[in-house]
Amino acid sequence: MTTPIPVLIDCDPGHDDAFALWLALGSDRLDVRGVTAVGGNAGLSHTERNARVVLTVAGVTDVPVAAGAAEPLERELETAEWIHGENGLGGPELPPAGFELDSRDATALMVDVLTSSDEPVAIIATGPITNVALLVRDHPELHERIREIVWMGGSTERGNVTPYAEFNAWVDPEALDIVVRSGIRFTMVGLNVTHTALVTPEVRERVAAVSNNTGRFGAELLDFFCATNNEVFGMPEGPLHDPVAVAVLAAPETITSVHTRLDVELVGPETRGATSVDLDGMLRREPNVHVVTALDVSAFWDRVVAALRTLA
Ligand code: RIB
Ligand code: CA
Repeated sequence: MTTPIPVLIDCDPGHDDAFALWLALGSDRLDVRGVTAVGGNAGLSHTERNARVVLTVAGVTDVPVAAGAAEPLERELETAEWIHGENGLGGPELPPAGFELDSRDATALMVDVLTSSDEPVAIIATGPITNVALLVRDHPELHERIREIVWMGGSTERGNVTPYAEFNAWVDPEALDIVVRSGIRFTMVGLNVTHTALVTPEVRERVAAVSNNTGRFGAELLDFFCATNNEVFGMPEGPLHDPVAVAVLAAPETITSVHTRLDVELVGPETRGATSVDLDGMLRREPNVHVVTALDVSAFWDRVVAALRTLA
């Protein structure tokens, strides 16, 4: 077995963020060194608690969880309760978190993890990328200690919060622009591919058949997530976006990506947060990111279910 990749996970739990955390924690290819929460699907007080609840459900209480940015860099936070509920994890009754929030803020935890690691650390971000932008902006001396950044967000096609913007990009496009311009290896996992990670009835049965706390709690999350995706988008098989970002490192054999050009729209009143991915090289600009274009869906779900089985 290869040495596990040290990772930091920045998230806004969030139903799909929960499965991203569980896939990472249940993968022998990753070593989760810390979790940071950001305002996104719900306010920060919810997302940081939800991150600790999701780890507690899985029996993980020794990974530090720190709270980061409550608001985007330059805008007011807009949340997504229409999909995730008021508390960000609608559906199951939430158990108390089994451990306290770390006393450090997200940046301090990230800095400590990066400086104490023997090797560069990968950052997997599954919400608005504000925390990662603050780290990258304020700590240029640590860029070489970041292996790469993998982010669920954006889209090579249409958006899901406006016609042209995906939610994580739309909430904080300025943060995304900072991270993309940093030159740190960046992989975008957009709606174009996460919309193939559909929670079908068979997937729901497989998760519900995982006879542990995580399987039971996860099954209730999926019931809620599929119901709201059906109400809002007419998609009863909700797309489970965030674990696809984890799969880039935990199951790279399930992923296809291309090296291409990404530019972020910051100013358009109708196009703020649009991710302009120049797949055909029309603009003749230097490629600056990797964009995931395909997922082996069957193998992906096998890996997700296998990871859940390793947890409490
Ligand atoms: O657009 C989907 C993304 O926005 C996912 O990360 C979901 O959790 C929300 O944060
Ligand atoms: Ca998310």
